Amino acid sequence: MAKGLRKSLTSYGDDAFALFLRKAFIKAMGYSDDALERPIVGITNTYSDYNPCHGNVPDLIEAVKRGVMLAGGMPMVFPTISIHESFAHPTSMFLRNLMAMDTEEMIKAQPMDAVVVIGGCDKTLPAQIMAAASVDLPTIVVPVGPMVVGHHKGEVLGACTDCRRLWSAHRAGELDEAEINAVNGRLAPSVGTCMVMGTASTMACITEALGLALPMSATIPAPHAERLRLAEASGRRAAEMAVSGGPRPSELLTPAAFRNAAVVLQAIGGSTNGIIHLTAIANRTPHGFALDTLDEIGRKVPVLVDLKPSGAHYMEHFHHAGGVPKLLQQLGELIDVSAATVGGGTLADVVAGAEEVPGQDVIRSRDNPIKAEGSMAVLYGNLAPGGAVIKQAAASPRLISHTGRALVFDSVEDMAARIDDPDLDVTADDVLVLRNTGPKGAPGMPEAGYLPIPKKLGRQGVKDMVRISDARMSGTAFGTIVLHITPESAAGGPLGAVRSGDMIRLDVASRRIEVLIDDAELAARMARLAETPAMARPARGYGRLYHDAVLQADEGCDFDFLVRKPPE
Ligand code: FES
Repeated sequence: MAKGLRKSLTSYGDDAFALFLRKAFIKAMGYSDDALERPIVGITNTYSDYNPCHGNVPDLIEAVKRGVMLAGGMPMVFPTISIHESFAHPTSMFLRNLMAMDTEEMIKAQPMDAVVVIGGCDKTLPAQIMAAASVDLPTIVVPVGPMVVGHHKGEVLGACTDCRRLWSAHRAGELDEAEINAVNGRLAPSVGTCMVMGTASTMACITEALGLALPMSATIPAPHAERLRLAEASGRRAAEMAVSGGPRPSELLTPAAFRNAAVVLQAIGGSTNGIIHLTAIANRTPHGFALDTLDEIGRKVPVLVDLKPSGAHYMEHFHHAGGVPKLLQQLGELIDVSAATVGGGTLADVVAGAEEVPGQDVIRSRDNPIKAEGSMAVLYGNLAPGGAVIKQAAASPRLISHTGRALVFDSVEDMAARIDDPDLDVTADDVLVLRNTGPKGAPGMPEAGYLPIPKKLGRQGVKDMVRISDARMSGTAFGTIVLHITPESAAGGPLGAVRSGDMIRLDVASRRIEVLIDDAELAARMARLAETPAMARPARGYGRLYHDAVLQADEGCDFDFLVRKPPE
């Protein structure tokens, strides 16, 4: 098989000429023949002025390049799409598959023997790993790392769990304009990803658990020198993989690896978005991943990591306590340590190298967990025939079994227009319902599932209510919130048939979410729904592709033509 510069030649009908031309052009950059004969390691560049989470990417690239060259390889940096949560309209989820396609196609189109993908902000690692799974070229992942914590008036602050908490306090009149502005400058004090157990941290931990990144890569803070050394080591390892041709993602992304990742997802109190991304990655392989497996694992796996939003600490504290290797060690036989890693060994080697930190209280033992059950549960019922998800670790214990009157919002816009109306007919026992916010509906499945507490209730001290939707929720949020209701209302799901005043029952123990109307009435309402015109199909461009091809949440919201179907 062709290697190095001879790979992926441009089609001219004459490969020798294609190579001659390629060399002629690349020599314009000053490369020698010696450099061009080396094994090539591609390095993705996701630096963008619109992506502060990736602010350290240029430094990481330099460190990776150094590692590649120390090992005798030739590094080639190339740009791909970069996505930041706050700079992605309509949502970052809408763009994830575009980044996955871009990354996949550019890895395939350009000559490289191995690739280092550098990412971190929520959707970037999933997109890059989905791409890597589809290309199946030796790949090593370098997360950008979490931010360090901020401080305000003696209090430790973290993006963006504290963004939400303090914004809610401001809405309730507890924080004035001057103080909320001061907080605004202290929530994100460095480059790197959100330092709570949000989606970025969750996906970095999952990446490490899947064996796709070197040990401790999930937790080393973004500004630390240790992260640059990790990047250098990753470059070195990528150069070795470029020569040996492995391991490839298909050798690492096995059923055991996906199960390990799901165990870690539950044990870290991870983001609900992690379920969608893990499913999307798994569906790029022959193995797939079922929601029921996550629930079954959650009944056995305790939450061990004490991080916000479910717990008390931040990513740098997780790191100093021993990081993912220590967590894997604490999980014991719940982890299949025979799973191979990109480092060339197995998770058993990673566990053996875990650091013992005396007195640390961030990574608990199994006989002293944060919560006895996993952080997430999968619900079913007449409202969610295809499943729904609740992060029970972040829910109020008094609400996890609750029946209340539905208050329905038809869209994000409807909610924004009415939620703070002083005359809104709402009590703390009601169930807030938001629909048309699924993968197709909004579109892009916005993180709108964390419906704000209506202002009039917030001022009375109400901090949590049952909230249900077909939307997602930021991994940094908390509350008794049912998400990812499938099928979504815009795809004809029963959520579209709920009316304000219906009674809704949530019972996490029995894994049920139901609207308490009889089957005949629900069927009649569903039939009337079917008569209403489908949502408008975008006239052109990526929006049209997205509308036509996006799958539901239980299938990872990938495009139907990108998943790998199991062999017949
Ligand atoms: Fe980038 Fe939170 S906004 S990780």
